Amino acid sequence: EGTTIYIPVVFHIVLQNPNQVTDAQVQAQLDRLNTDYAGLNGDSTLIPAWFKPFFSKPNIQFKLAQRNANDETSDGIDRVTTSISSFTIDDNRLKYTSQGGADAWDHNRFFNVWITQLGNQYLGYSTFPNSSPAAEDGVAIQYTTLPGNPGVYGKGRTLTHETGHFFYLYHIWGDENGCAGTDFIDDTPNQGTWTSGCLRDTVHTDACSPVAPGIMYQNFMDYTDDACMVMFTLDQKTRMETTINMYRPTLLT
Ligand code: ARG
Ligand code: ZN
Repeated sequence: EGTTIYIPVVFHIVLQNPNQVTDAQVQAQLDRLNTDYAGLNGDSTLIPAWFKPFFSKPNIQFKLAQRNANDETSDGIDRVTTSISSFTIDDNRLKYTSQGGADAWDHNRFFNVWITQLGNQYLGYSTFPNSSPAAEDGVAIQYTTLPGNPGVYGKGRTLTHETGHFFYLYHIWGDENGCAGTDFIDDTPNQGTWTSGCLRDTVHTDACSPVAPGIMYQNFMDYTDDACMVMFTLDQKTRMETTINMYRPTLLT
């Protein structure tokens, strides 16, 4: 299914005690991301027969940066001690060292991921291509979404989902309550709103996809529990590849 794309990633850990996220947890998060973007996740067995033909292996892989923005040796993990106890989703202080956060590394060369404490139980958020200043381009995730944490969002899938947005994927239901919204993807069924929890291996229909096979609640771009989101489709793979080539080509060099 094509050649593998490699993207350098830097994790900025911005916490009052940044050491509470260990290197091993960062590695586990990176492994989760790479497994999902290789389509090698073991729980893809949860994809029902009727959606299996659309399951893709995006062949996008992420590797910790080995040089930092100043071209010095690095492990790709940037720990910053902050006095700010939590950030909100539009709190750009997170992305500036001078304001208690961590500066992005050149977004043309690195995929920037901020791991922090987000308030109001936010899980994460991402910028779309060309949507934000270069210094703010990237993904932010709640530190408790890393693998090994308790709860239904503690398996590292938030970064899988947010990275989909970073590559210009929209939510599978098209971000409106109704059937007119679109995710600009042809092989995901029309879906009225988000799915939460975990429906498991049954047909689930809604007003926009009223007959079997129904909606694809197993998709990484829905809102189900980490244990229940298990796939990108072929067209989502194509859209991510196109996005990288059109908007983020320098990440590949
Ligand atoms: N609410 C966030 C967003 O819209 C993240 C949702 C992640 N879901 C999960 N099961 N980890 O981008
Ligand atoms: Zn989202």
